[in-house]
Amino acid sequence: MESENNPHRLLVDAIEKRISANYFDSSHVLPDSDLTEIIRLATLAPTAFNFQNWRFIAVRTPDAKKKLWEVAGRQPKVLEASATFIICGQLPDHSVLAERLCPSIEAGFMPEATAALWVMGADALYTSNARMQRDEAIRSATFGAATLMFAAAAHSLATGAMVGFDPDKVVQEFGLGPNEVPVLLMTVGKALPGNWPQKPRRPLQEVLEFA
Ligand SMILES: Cc1cc2nc3c(=O)[nH]c(=O)nc-3n(C[C@H](O)[C@H](O)[C@H](O)COP(=O)(O)O)c2cc1C
Repeated sequence: MESENNPHRLLVDAIEKRISANYFDSSHVLPDSDLTEIIRLATLAPTAFNFQNWRFIAVRTPDAKKKLWEVAGRQPKVLEASATFIICGQLPDHSVLAERLCPSIEAGFMPEATAALWVMGADALYTSNARMQRDEAIRSATFGAATLMFAAAAHSLATGAMVGFDPDKVVQEFGLGPNEVPVLLMTVGKALPGNWPQKPRRPLQEVLEFA
């Protein structure tokens, strides 16, 4: 169990060692190829119906960082981190689902009839239900964000989730579509010494119930 290659230990270490970093090495440059690989891994997160109703905007040039910093409460880490992702959830639209499911049909495991049923299911669940659409956008983006944190950790990078931003201004400044919700910002970079450790959590008996 203690072996470095033990997958259980590696995963538990990643969870136990993750922190919300505040201080990043501003001299660290993260190549676009690394940002791309982190997002490739993040998109392996699950979404309802495999909708993949998300978009990740990698804010990494000085000008783009400054623009985001202005609408994110001027939090210094937006300028200091190598990049900050704007994680957008998209309102699920059943009319795009058939195309999204094609690769699963082509891969040979999903029958066409099943894909058609999923499209009908998505229509029934989301069309005419604005609350459900928004909830799903937030769920998908949040799963993507959580997976992104560990994809970054696998590249020895720290992350920091942020809700401290003006969503309307982010939409305006970064050209989000009418079907897109800016759910979270996620800074990524090399942590500097001096970050707080992971904060203690509430006792399990307060948050866990067996039914
Ligand atoms: C949805 C969400 C929004 C957050 N927004 C901010 C933020 O705007 N600024 C910030 O400094 N930290 C933010 N945080 C970080 C939290 O304060 C941090 O996750 C929490 O204190 C636990 O710290 P730990 O992850 O290091 O244990 C946010 C975290 C989450 C999950």
